Amino acid sequence: MTRTYTFPGVAIITGAGGTGIGAAVAKSFASAGCDRIAITDLNPTSLNQTEQAIRESYPQTKLLVRAGNVADEQFVESFISEAVTVFGRLDYAVNCAGILGQSLRSTDTSTEAFDQINNVNYRGCWLCSRAELRQMIKQESLPSHDPDRVPQRGAVVNIASQLGIVGRPNGPAYCSSKAAIIAMTRSDAIDYSKDDIRVNCVCPGVIETPMTTHNEEVRERLRPAVDIAPMKRMGRPEEVADTVLFLCSTFASFIQGHALVVDGGYIIN
Ligand SMILES: NC(=O)c1ccc[n+]([C@@H]2O[C@H](COP(=O)([O-])OP(=O)(O)OC[C@H]3O[C@@H](n4cnc5c(N)ncnc54)[C@H](O)[C@@H]3O)[C@@H](O)[C@H]2O)c1
Repeated sequence: MTRTYTFPGVAIITGAGGTGIGAAVAKSFASAGCDRIAITDLNPTSLNQTEQAIRESYPQTKLLVRAGNVADEQFVESFISEAVTVFGRLDYAVNCAGILGQSLRSTDTSTEAFDQINNVNYRGCWLCSRAELRQMIKQESLPSHDPDRVPQRGAVVNIASQLGIVGRPNGPAYCSSKAAIIAMTRSDAIDYSKDDIRVNCVCPGVIETPMTTHNEEVRERLRPAVDIAPMKRMGRPEEVADTVLFLCSTFASFIQGHALVVDGGYIIN
């Protein structure tokens, strides 16, 4: 029997604008046949870019597209609730919105800069996953397409970072915001196992996206990390998206609370 991914449920992706990881995840879901997808991003223009790309290549996909801030509780609640009203349920939730912030030691970091990073990366991810889990625990499991696998009620994939596992110079606020996502993922995975919901996270290494390439300072800042990794190149957003889809799929039916590193070997060196 040939076994392929199927995504009969509803996907939701935050940070889905532009050409970064979230956009690649949204397009990958559409290309894998997921036909109900809700996408959001703070930037309406880049979100529109993702919408157009999916409408052109996968016209059968039903999209819900709403710009907003993941650090705004009201927006998060209304977006998730609208997605459920429009699509009826929520099966694959990918929390990808994030910011890098400046390169500074703690003694040079303002409280405002620390709060901004943590509000988006950690608190924003928690607000989204809480709203997603609240919906998932209420719904029936999707029947499994694969007779060897148990049905699943939902899968959450949070995007953390290799920098949630290892340290980096001048990155205390970013690194801790991503370590918090890994810890939150593990805790939620324990709590929602009994509901047949899996919660995992992906820890990308340096990936070629607007976040890592938007100016020369950032490119220079990240160059040593690319050189340290045995594979000595930036990863592609699609390489992270493949991992996310795997974790959402029933192929990953026994993977729970995991932090899956996609970093060209950076953390083993
Ligand atoms: N690119 C990398 O090397 C790398 C490495 C490890 C982890 N990550 C993480 O992957 C995720 C995606 O990053 P990316 O590299 O694709 O960068 P990106 O900048 O292309 O994508 C991040 C997206 O999040 C959106 N966003 C920012 N703040 C937001 C907010 N408050 N509310 C809603 N949306 C918001 C941005 O508009 C952007 O479209 C981030 O969480 C990032 O921390 C990236």
